[in-house]
Amino acid sequence: MDKLVIEGGSRLSGTIRVSGSKNACLPILAATLLTGDECNISNSPDLRDVSTMLEILSSLGRRAVRSGDSIKVSSGEADSHTALYELVSTMRASIVVLGPLLAKYGEAKVSFPGGCVIGPRPIDLHLKGLRAIGADISIKEGYIIARAKKLRGAQVYLGGHFGSSVLATANTLMAAVLADGKTVIENAACEPEIVDLAGFLTAMGAVIDGAGTPTVTVSGVKKLKGADYRIIPDRIEVGTYMIAAVLTGGDLFLEEARIEHNLALLDKLKETGGVVREKENGIRVYREREVIRATDITTNTYPGFPTDLQAQMMSLMIGADGISVITEKIYPDRFIHISEMNRMGAGIRLEGSTAIIKGNGTLSGAPVMASDLRASAALVLAGLVAEGQTEISRIYHLDRGYEHIEDKLSAVGAKIWREKEQ
Ligand code: EPU
Repeated sequence: MDKLVIEGGSRLSGTIRVSGSKNACLPILAATLLTGDECNISNSPDLRDVSTMLEILSSLGRRAVRSGDSIKVSSGEADSHTALYELVSTMRASIVVLGPLLAKYGEAKVSFPGGCVIGPRPIDLHLKGLRAIGADISIKEGYIIARAKKLRGAQVYLGGHFGSSVLATANTLMAAVLADGKTVIENAACEPEIVDLAGFLTAMGAVIDGAGTPTVTVSGVKKLKGADYRIIPDRIEVGTYMIAAVLTGGDLFLEEARIEHNLALLDKLKETGGVVREKENGIRVYREREVIRATDITTNTYPGFPTDLQAQMMSLMIGADGISVITEKIYPDRFIHISEMNRMGAGIRLEGSTAIIKGNGTLSGAPVMASDLRASAALVLAGLVAEGQTEISRIYHLDRGYEHIEDKLSAVGAKIWREKEQ
């Protein structure tokens, strides 16, 4: 296993090229199951989660080959509609093959994904969406078994206790594109990754209206064809490096970043003293003031503040002048990073799903453990400003979602490297 070692204290300056979006790429790869034709997906990030999805596609009888940032998916020898526990259990997002398999074959068997370190992650909305358009679903021996002779368009309300769901919207959308008649998804997720998925499905011949709004209308078609498609830049990677620029008092140009995908973060960074300038083909982020000002954040569904940037924002707040408050509304238990940050000398107290961060703390480098993808990124940020050396173990979490993070950060002045764990 690898670990990351960071020598704190460097100001980041220079250009980072942003990778394609992991969370757009995963459902788009699943959508290739809807056709037997060849699909070419470019700007796809080289990440462990994407490799897992390619393995799942192979296990379902597809030929999925990467070359640089392009992935070619074509039909293989024999199709299967069973996604096995061994693969699904390594990545929760694999549930997103359920909708396309059901729509293509009239039958799908997908391992129940189970829990995850950021808290319980139910799939009731996925099942509700598919049932509403005619699927008969049962759970047997740890598998979701979905069947439908013919899916039929219907009105589907997809709101849950925590608002909309990104992957439940993706699953329902991908099943509805081949259903008979019109499906209207109400309380659909509005995330840019859903817009990107709809863009790919449209390129395949689907008829979709309203993606990016809470009401998405799908007019079913008989068949979809192959398509070539370019994935959007990763807004969470962008956000992580935007925070890094402000935290280290640095000056970064994030090539290919789209500011319209990160407006909630932009708003908060401005409050802290960060400056964000839109440029041709990217954005520049730097800090104007000597001190970082404290702020408060509540995570929410898009266009609210993303839960996937909550932990990284906490690292910024540790360095702020004053007390900051972060409330997590999407995953109320997504706070495992707090204990590791406190090991580095932060003063963070948790009350329910609200973290109270006493700023102005000087962090001291320490051995810490990554617990999930975004928590790991937050520890990297904390390590960048800590005094001395920080060693982050279990960084396989980081490799799930950040392409070449140590190379990208080293190139802009960070002292960060990868070592084998003893
Ligand atoms: N929810 C339900 N029922 C469901 C599905 C979700 O109640 O059937 C709840 C969840 O418990 C949560 C909320 O709805 O409280 C939102 O969950 P959502 O379904 O939107 O999450 P997801 O689609 O499984 C995606 C991202 C996550 C990101 C969330 C929220 C992918 C592959 N994953 O997950 O990304 O945190 O949306 O924005 O797109 C990450 O990249 O680190 C990551 C965890």
